[in-house]
Amino acid sequence: LMSQLLLLASSLSRSNQFCDAGTSSKLLIKGGTVVNAHHQQVADVYVEDGIIVSIKSTIMVGDEVTVIDATGKFVMPGGTDPHTHLEFEFMGTETVDGFFGGQAAALAGGTTMHIDFVIPRKGSLTAGIEAYEKKARKSCMDYGFHIAITKWDETMSREMELMVKEKGTNSFKFFMAYKGALMINDEFLLEGFKKCKSLGALAMVHAENGDAVDEGQKKNYRTWNNWYVIILNTCYDFLCCVILLEGEATARAIHLADFVNTPLYVVHVMSIDAMEEIAKARKSGQRVIGEPVASGLALDESWLWHPDFETAAKQVMSPPIRKRGHDKALQASLSTGLVGTDRCAFNSTQKALGIDDFQKIPNGVNGIEERMHLVWDIMVESVQISVTDYVRLTSTNGCQNARIFNICPRKGAILPGSDADIIILNPNSSFEITAKSHHSKLDTNGKVEVTIAGGRVVWENNELKVAHGTGRYIKMPPFSYLSDGIDKKGCLLSKLPPSPSGESQIQHLKSF
Ligand code: URP
Ligand code: ZN
Ligand code: ZN
Ligand code: ZN
Repeated sequence: LMSQLLLLASSLSRSNQFCDAGTSSKLLIKGGTVVNAHHQQVADVYVEDGIIVSIKSTIMVGDEVTVIDATGKFVMPGGTDPHTHLEFEFMGTETVDGFFGGQAAALAGGTTMHIDFVIPRKGSLTAGIEAYEKKARKSCMDYGFHIAITKWDETMSREMELMVKEKGTNSFKFFMAYKGALMINDEFLLEGFKKCKSLGALAMVHAENGDAVDEGQKKNYRTWNNWYVIILNTCYDFLCCVILLEGEATARAIHLADFVNTPLYVVHVMSIDAMEEIAKARKSGQRVIGEPVASGLALDESWLWHPDFETAAKQVMSPPIRKRGHDKALQASLSTGLVGTDRCAFNSTQKALGIDDFQKIPNGVNGIEERMHLVWDIMVESVQISVTDYVRLTSTNGCQNARIFNICPRKGAILPGSDADIIILNPNSSFEITAKSHHSKLDTNGKVEVTIAGGRVVWENNELKVAHGTGRYIKMPPFSYLSDGIDKKGCLLSKLPPSPSGESQIQHLKSF
């Protein structure tokens, strides 16, 4: 049931729904169960000027304060989606929603901050971030930026420093796939990892073997229909390979990060293979974070074989959605992690660019609006995780997401001094998700009834009240807990003695 939500909602656009933003600067949320990652208690929450002021069992206020009754409901930090692409120019087109529209959808689903990926412009990070600053100007929700590194030279190295020291970013994504477009090779990956380490920034990877994916695509699978037929006839051999390619690249990135001794964040983990590589590294003490995404948790590959091109094409993303079983395994691995979406939505006209050649289907799925409900339904309703764990997974809470990106406790917590980004979730309310292009309606349990962003009620009574320019850019400082004491651990690279003239480092490596 929930697995269909992503499909149905993908053409849901909220870009037209806005009126005045809620104005009261003083709010009291009364009688709800306040949930943080470490603790839950029935309490009142008082908010003033966009900041949480106090949390106490009973708070008395005057008439000037707007009171929201949360009795019987959960009061939780708004979600942070660590992985989105709004207004992203990709594969010959651009994602459907701009920042404002995508953010409005997010707010309606209980997400109050997202981190988007800046793509360099003409090889320049500065020009790239300036373009994204412009795109984000009308934001109605708080946002931060990761920076994609798509080539390597001295300028890139200098610009990375600038991004961290002057632009408030602390994470860089390296693409090991999309050959001929965004992909970089291992030599540059190593350079990038070293630079990240020196800056206290987090290295992120899109882990697939780009050369092999490219080869496989060129060789056999040119058209959508042929692809479809060949794969049915060959027992998913191709897809099995594709899983190995994700596992391979994940392992490679992990080993290279270990070699450099820098923390690593693997985005959109879609397969058991990749997940197991991450688990193995974590067990050995390496600082590796895996990010499953809503689509990987909720969907399985059967959608890709839907006879209707439109339905199938909606599921096309990289790495691909896997066979049934991977979804459940990713869910089971979630208890200590976090969840993103990789929201990169294209409409059916855009997806149809690949109707005669599946390689041209713009890669990407939806989920920014559905993530909070999906995780609630899949993980909490099924009793796989507790409500406090839910906060940890979705809200970038005190321990995971927000801490990884060094924005805790400003985000991800209901504590005095935290931003008033709060959702009220009614566990006893079921609701329907519909999409204009579809006829069916689906029920789901648990509903975000109220979203408060920066102290403003932006979602209530199924109505959005968002306004241009109310979202703020959130700077994310370097040297998060992941960088703590990293040098004490030492690494192969730093243990290599300085290279005396005439002697290769390999000699030293041998005697080491
Ligand atoms: O298919 C995907 N994942 N599209 C978005 C770009 C990326 O690789 O994250
Ligand atoms: Zn990616
Ligand atoms: Zn992405
Ligand atoms: Zn339909």
